[in-house]
Amino acid sequence: MSTDDALGSARDSAMEAEFDTVAAWTEEAVRALGHDHAIPAGCRGSGSPADLAWIAGGLDLHADQRFLDSGAGLGGPAAWLSEHLEGRWSGRPVLTEPMVHAAQSARRLFGFPVAAAASEDLPIATASVDAAWSLGVLCVTAERARMLAELRRVLVPGGRLGLLVLLHAGEPLPEEPEGNDFPTRDELETQIVDAGFRVDDEVDAARLPGAPIAWSERADRVEEYIARHHRDHPAWQQAAEQDRIIGRLMGERLITMHLLRTTAV
Ligand SMILES: C[S@@+](CC[C@H](N)C(=O)[O-])C[C@H]1O[C@@H](n2cnc3c(N)ncnc32)[C@H](O)[C@@H]1O
Repeated sequence: MSTDDALGSARDSAMEAEFDTVAAWTEEAVRALGHDHAIPAGCRGSGSPADLAWIAGGLDLHADQRFLDSGAGLGGPAAWLSEHLEGRWSGRPVLTEPMVHAAQSARRLFGFPVAAAASEDLPIATASVDAAWSLGVLCVTAERARMLAELRRVLVPGGRLGLLVLLHAGEPLPEEPEGNDFPTRDELETQIVDAGFRVDDEVDAARLPGAPIAWSERADRVEEYIARHHRDHPAWQQAAEQDRIIGRLMGERLITMHLLRTTAV
């Protein structure tokens, strides 16, 4: 195996542990603890409801417009959006997510149509989506430019795209989580604009309120359940190590969570 192959397989196994195996365990935990745990537990990396509300404010979703969640994970953010916009928006989210177990769990937990697909190759017709978001995805791959081009392709002109991205502040990182690829603010903006979007607004998520206690308690209970049942599993340990590193880097503000509202031009 070449060095590149070895690095690639370490990255794939870390991504699979974090985004696929733990996703399947999360579904199991939600079934045990109750469906009111599904949305907080199903928001993997998408921050607090205040973050989601800020991004949702830029989507301008109404009537039965078509909405895509690209790299949807377990589907918690899309389920939150449906509840949040109830009465204003009657459309049904379409989800794409490359990790098969996560995609299956999202469909079972929330009943949304989910395609198991990577965002750089969306099985979706050109100009068929009115609004989309991609939360915590552009920072887990180096394929950002291709992803953004695909998102631009599937959106109608004038369509809205919301983004949540972990940004590299520019300082060297003392340790790096496997598989992530954090752009700097300038790199991200260049890629967004090159793909055919205008940045309308942006905010550092640290400026927005954290999650309400009831939300955090539910997410914590799900995490505790998963740890109780799976902490001896190598995938749990790998995912926990990823979380620890990202937590440290965010704590030291070497990476920051950035929210963007953009429009396809
Ligand atoms: C931090 S999680 C965020 C999940 C979800 N968007 C949320 O906010 O809860 C990152 C997600 O990106 C997915 N992902 C990784 N590579 C991807 C790719 N090439 N295309 C689309 N999604 C990808 C992962 O499987 C994972 O579900």
